[in-house]
Amino acid sequence: MLSPMRTQVGIIGAGPAGLLLSHLLHLRGISSVILERRSRDYVERRVRAGVLEQGTVDTLVESGVGERLLREGLVHEGIELRYGGAGHRVAFEKLVPGRSITVYGQQEVVKDLIAARLAAGADIRFEVDDVAVHSLEDAPYITFGGERLDCDFIAGCDGFHGVSRPSVPEGVITTYEREYPFAWLGILARVAPSAEELIYAQTGRGFALHSMRSPEISRFYLQVPAGEDLDEWPDERIWAELKARLETVPGFALATGEIIEKGITPLRSFVAEPMRHERLFLAGDAAHIVPPTGAKGLNLAVADVRVLTEALTRFYADGSTALLDDYSDICLKRVWRAQHFSWWMTTLLHTFDSDDAYGRRLQTSYLDYVTASDAAATTLAENYVGLPYEVLP
Ligand code: APR
Ligand code: PHB
Repeated sequence: MLSPMRTQVGIIGAGPAGLLLSHLLHLRGISSVILERRSRDYVERRVRAGVLEQGTVDTLVESGVGERLLREGLVHEGIELRYGGAGHRVAFEKLVPGRSITVYGQQEVVKDLIAARLAAGADIRFEVDDVAVHSLEDAPYITFGGERLDCDFIAGCDGFHGVSRPSVPEGVITTYEREYPFAWLGILARVAPSAEELIYAQTGRGFALHSMRSPEISRFYLQVPAGEDLDEWPDERIWAELKARLETVPGFALATGEIIEKGITPLRSFVAEPMRHERLFLAGDAAHIVPPTGAKGLNLAVADVRVLTEALTRFYADGSTALLDDYSDICLKRVWRAQHFSWWMTTLLHTFDSDDAYGRRLQTSYLDYVTASDAAATTLAENYVGLPYEVLP
């Protein structure tokens, strides 16, 4: 084994959580090394979600990686809930003035962060194998591909299927989980969006979402049964089903085009508590997963990383461990709020085979309430654009 490398924070995973953490620590003069098992090309091409909360946009812009986001991101002041043959706009400018969302692909955020990291001379190791964490109590280190990285702390930013969370001894972490009987079939299409803003459609045939990436590229999602085989969905069938679920209001026609990417993602709600064990700190999908209906996944990862950055900064400034000790509780408060919101949006807008007529009437009555009452719509709006961050103790 080569002589060990040393850094202050060893980060596993070059997704939004790991990259943003490394970037923010760098701005605070704290060193880190990122270990990523996939190639740079893979992580930069991986199509994921694309709605940024106000706070996420502010964090990226204030930390100097928001230039392209401000230039190419699409700022939206509302979304549409479409059901029962009518569309209902949830107007952020009226309900939560001054707070909006920005539509900007997660992979674009990843590209911007990797570019900024490498421009600052960061050490990002792509395509590393056999990452494993060791001696978390006092002198943590990470081994990978025959090498060793000594560090003061390890940040587990390696997603749901990573090695960090499973490396915590049995019985330390409690997990909370909910599976959904459906998945999302997502596509990227080379066609101009058919609407200015996102459309969340609830129909008897199932949920559909009209999103976008740019004036030329649209993003769509369809509710399909869990475990559905993508081969069952040739492009024509996808467009026919999107039309059936979105062309449900007078005067709306869905433009179609070449599908350039498609995939099926299972829907899951998951929380691991606590998000810290000794000198290992979990952030992002490594600690929590939300169904994408509330567009919270990426934004929660950013919220975790903000708290962890501040906690590590205080430790290196004056040795205080108070915020490191509070890290998990502070993050989990926002995580559970987002868990509820994401579960609520999912149950409000998807079709459950288990639902009887009574269940369906309940769903419609709630949609009627959310779209008629400013108080209820404000609840949706403030969670969707993102609640302000906690003031840290
Ligand atoms: N060794 C090294 N890297 C790993 C390992 C491992 N054993 N396991 C996973 N990784 C890498 C993955 O290849 C991935 O690039 O960790 C990274 C985790 O990134 P994400 O899954 O994007 O998770 P996170 O950074 O927490 O971002 C959360 O991603 O999945 C979306 O909806 C989610 O938007 C949310 C965001
Ligand atoms: C997306 O644009 O990919 C997107 C938008 C809203 C969601 C989920 C995904 O709720």
